[in-house]
Amino acid sequence: MTWLITGGAGYIGAHVARAMAGAGERVVALDDLSAGNPARLPSDVPLVEGSSLDGDLLKRVFARYAVTGVVHLAARKQVAESVAQPTRYYRENVGGLATLLDAVAEAGIGRFVFSSSAAVYGSPDVDLITEDTPCAPVNPYGETKLAGEWLVRAAGRAHGISTVCLRYFNVAGAAAPELADTGVFNIVPMVFDRLTRDEAPRIFGDDYPTPDGTCVRDYIHVADLAEAHLAAARKLDTGADGDLTVNIGRGEGVSVREMITTIGEVSGERRAPLVEARRPGDAPRAVASAERAAKELGWTARRGVREMVESAWAGWQLHHER
Ligand SMILES: NC(=O)c1ccc[n+]([C@@H]2O[C@H](COP(=O)([O-])OP(=O)(O)OC[C@H]3O[C@@H](n4cnc5c(N)ncnc54)[C@H](O)[C@@H]3O)[C@@H](O)[C@H]2O)c1
Repeated sequence: MTWLITGGAGYIGAHVARAMAGAGERVVALDDLSAGNPARLPSDVPLVEGSSLDGDLLKRVFARYAVTGVVHLAARKQVAESVAQPTRYYRENVGGLATLLDAVAEAGIGRFVFSSSAAVYGSPDVDLITEDTPCAPVNPYGETKLAGEWLVRAAGRAHGISTVCLRYFNVAGAAAPELADTGVFNIVPMVFDRLTRDEAPRIFGDDYPTPDGTCVRDYIHVADLAEAHLAAARKLDTGADGDLTVNIGRGEGVSVREMITTIGEVSGERRAPLVEARRPGDAPRAVASAERAAKELGWTARRGVREMVESAWAGWQLHHER
């Protein structure tokens, strides 16, 4: 078995490459380096520099490395950018996926793991989101992930590819400081960014119908998430067929205010947060039911919020001098 990891030099992809290679899987990474960093990859994981939108390159990579399975993480992932550039998001996240799936089918590759997102659900009014909760994304990014899932399942049925779609909740932390997320798009790096610039962290709305009035999310350590990919790959390796869609979260809600308090404790930078207006599209609560992942993949998250924040803070300090 050789697994191709698209987006392998990215934040999550490099963690997946490390977890899978560390567990003895043969792995090759493909990344166009638009947001990735080759230094994140372990030395025993070859990197092919190029785009997953390039069908000819994919054919050559599949043949050269005798690829038998694909973990597809390469994508655009910024919600605001997807609102401003919807055609680009559909072209790269959905059109690019069609190119990849054509190449996978042509090469006779029978295993495919797809990076999906809790963004497919939109803002459901439920305590725990199960995989059967209706999907109603509220931005083009989430739409491309949902359309991507449809495409993955349809191509799987048409070409006999066994597929797993992993719907990640809020990813944070790092397995090592040099692997940390360097983008400032999620709450943890956004709060670090404010604190590093001697600014108070911001809370967008504290009048939601939640225990402390701030939005509640399900945070997942990226090292746990990487292990979920390994579990999905192993499930496919053991001959599972058909399609499987699973939430990847901890099943535990943490409010924005609680997260900011933990960040203050870990970083020693305690500044009272500023409460600003709600942002459009923020759901009051988005917490996964993690039952199907436990049952189908034999995987459960092991790391807590404090470990996420401590590891992310170590990474932030490495990458950002005050
Ligand atoms: N970070 C999160 O919280 C989160 C949550 C849910 C889902 N996801 C999904 O996980 C995946 C990885 O996200 P990430 O946070 O690691 O982002 P990232 O930007 O760090 O990683 C994406 C990687 O893909 C590469 N890439 C982009 N387009 C490419 C292309 N056409 N060909 C080859 N490489 C390409 C980039 O250079 C980058 O290294 C994405 O599909 C994202 O939508 C992320």
